[in-house]
Amino acid sequence: MTQKPHVDFIDPEDKDGTASQSTSERDAGTNAAKAANAEEANPAERVVELNIGDPHFMDNAYALYADLRAKGPVSRARFAVGGEEASEDGAEEPADLLGRRDTFFVTHYDEVIAALLDHRFSVDPRSGMTPEQLEEQPPMPEEFRIFSRSIISLDPPDHTRLRKLVQPSFTGRGMEALRGSIQQIVDDLLDQVEHDTAGRGETAPDRRMDLIEEFAYPFPVTVISDMLGIPREDRETIRGWTENLLRVDRLRGREVDEETRAGLREFIDYLKDLFEHKRRTPTDDMISRLVHVEEDGDTLDEDEMLATVLLMFLAGHVTTVNLVGNGVVALLTHPDQLAKLKANPELLARGVVEETLRYWGPVDFVGRRIATEDVEVGGTVIPTGDQMTASLASANRDPERFANPDVFDITRADANRHVAFGKGLHVCLGAPLARVEGQIAFTALFRRFPELRLAVPDEELRWGNSFLRGFACLPVLF
Ligand code: HEM
Repeated sequence: MTQKPHVDFIDPEDKDGTASQSTSERDAGTNAAKAANAEEANPAERVVELNIGDPHFMDNAYALYADLRAKGPVSRARFAVGGEEASEDGAEEPADLLGRRDTFFVTHYDEVIAALLDHRFSVDPRSGMTPEQLEEQPPMPEEFRIFSRSIISLDPPDHTRLRKLVQPSFTGRGMEALRGSIQQIVDDLLDQVEHDTAGRGETAPDRRMDLIEEFAYPFPVTVISDMLGIPREDRETIRGWTENLLRVDRLRGREVDEETRAGLREFIDYLKDLFEHKRRTPTDDMISRLVHVEEDGDTLDEDEMLATVLLMFLAGHVTTVNLVGNGVVALLTHPDQLAKLKANPELLARGVVEETLRYWGPVDFVGRRIATEDVEVGGTVIPTGDQMTASLASANRDPERFANPDVFDITRADANRHVAFGKGLHVCLGAPLARVEGQIAFTALFRRFPELRLAVPDEELRWGNSFLRGFACLPVLF
């Protein structure tokens, strides 16, 4: 978890991409000299490489964001994945969050908010394309067509219509009412963990678990499945499909194999049958509400319902896993903060959630914003058709907004002004749910297992190799 400065500059004239090899493949001195020369020659054209495929990207990202903030609110950036750069059309992973390869990267808090509130940015990647470019786009495979109907990929008026129909399932008050059932899910999972460790003959305080695999991962998927109204007896079956879904989202391109596509088709067929069942026999759950919803004459068609349900699993699962994992690691590596939480869990659980979201939010940046006309952000004009990416993680560490931003402080009074859930039209729909889930998880974990501690030295913990910020595995003793 060390944070070393790491900035790869790319020569914008380097058409064959040779300058985008990973740092290890290059001589560091040559690289620095190259960056300096490029900067001197044409400061406005500096392009910073965001090599999200580099296993150390997340380690170094906060130092990189600080460098960029010092240079101004908007930088030119280019995404790369490992040795390979993301393809021009963004068809390779992770197309959805990042969109195109070249982007205007916004790093200051005020400008991130202004840009996300600016309706001149579209989330539809086709919006900046000429008719000829649209014509040249490869046809979208049938299984992926659904994704383009989800609210995260739609502009108004479709976005407004769908969000209005789905929003009532996610009000703050509605989520508060779910506290009891979410608490039950947490208790059941922790019972299971205790049962498994007892089966292995382990005793407190030296029982061992991978907190991600045994708790944080199954937790939100169970909550979402309950909310949607997926029958309990189908949970094992859908587990495979939801994992498959995450794979599809990462690969959303031509190279997705037939097995993965078949898995998605099976999930879709299952959901269609479930919709039919809920249409005939509604119960008190989100799918029943969606199939019957009608607001000012608006309804959801079947593709929109499928897109909405799939998005719940995509947007609401790993993000929440990471909120729990990141918060636990932040607490265990800041014993003074953990002591405060233990002394006053009812009062400080909210603080842990908000400060974790600010300090190590699961989503470092949101891309896929195309300027539909020339838009000025922080003194930089983003031309029509170009992409903007808002760095939520950078905004959350902006010293102009948060005092001592690199300090993890669960009593920080303004932590909840973070932008970890985005801002504007597409602000996270599930934020009230994620907050309640986090509060319950942190309180329950440390109340039930007060001896909870890392089973490995903290330097051995690694951010997962993903565009979301989180630990792939988290061994703890309790
Ligand atoms: C800590 C957990 C979470 C984080 C950090 C998070 C973060 C985000 C962010 C940054 C966005 C904005 C994306 C953009 O502007 O392009 C977003 C949108 C969204 N999130 Fe979350 N999310 C979390 C949990 C959830 C949960 C639990 C659900 C639902 C079960 C959910 C459902 C959604 C939906 C549906 C959208 C799209 C909203 C729209 O386009 O109008 N999220 N989330």
